[in-house]
Amino acid sequence: MNTENLQAILQPVGVSAVRYFESIGSTNDEALQWAGQGAPDFALVTADTQSSGRGRMGRKWVSTAGACLAFSLVLRPTPPETNCITLFSPLGSLAIQRVLQNNYRLPCEVKWPNDVLIYRKKVAGILVEIDWNGASPEGIIQGIGVNISQAAVPPASDLLFPATSLEDELGYRPDRWEFLRQVLAQIKALRPLLPTGALIKEWEKHLAFAGERVRVESTVQPPQIGRLIGLGQDGSLLLQSDQEEIISIAAGDVHAHHLRPLGEE
Ligand code: BTN
Repeated sequence: MNTENLQAILQPVGVSAVRYFESIGSTNDEALQWAGQGAPDFALVTADTQSSGRGRMGRKWVSTAGACLAFSLVLRPTPPETNCITLFSPLGSLAIQRVLQNNYRLPCEVKWPNDVLIYRKKVAGILVEIDWNGASPEGIIQGIGVNISQAAVPPASDLLFPATSLEDELGYRPDRWEFLRQVLAQIKALRPLLPTGALIKEWEKHLAFAGERVRVESTVQPPQIGRLIGLGQDGSLLLQSDQEEIISIAAGDVHAHHLRPLGEE
């Protein structure tokens, strides 16, 4: 791949500018820097390999050449969007969910706060970072990693949650640039729902572990256990405790939560 060809593939879905690298530290770092230098809305950074790709909660994100689709999108939030920046993360997850369901016929759910699951195994993750100007979010960096083939999946001993790849689930390796084009088209299509509350409704339709007992670990509060009953308007998670109380857990901007199902205990 090269920048020119990628531009030609992505131009129809409205990508404003492209930076492609064979190898980079982290596409999120490059996108954050570019945002600070005036990258336009819907500018894209992607790389075949990341030497220091990062995930949520300070974790490493493995990005082996060609086995992972790794990209970061710079979004310039409109005034209504600045009031719901926590929803940029599910915006990315739901875009992937739609592509997997509509284009690949794969059943797919979105685990709170943002992992994309196929048959309860993680296939993609999102790391949103923000370019702040004082208290104002000037740029949203939507960093997305998708496991295209098995080489992108870390060994089970390194995983907090079971993981899979598109190749494992489809029986063939999909074209990652075509997949990228499809995801960007869905981000564009879903983005207007973001400030209207409709994105949350869409997420609730595809929310993993809905109705099940779950445990949410957090770096900021003690673990919470309860039945997952839905989402608040700001994307917070709603649980019903064993004492029938409603517990609301905010997604927050540090993304320091980890949810797992408990099964029938
Ligand atoms: C997670 O599930 O923990 C989030 C993973 C996000 C990984 C992507 S790959 C592209 C972008 N660059 C990074 O360094 N991280 C994100």
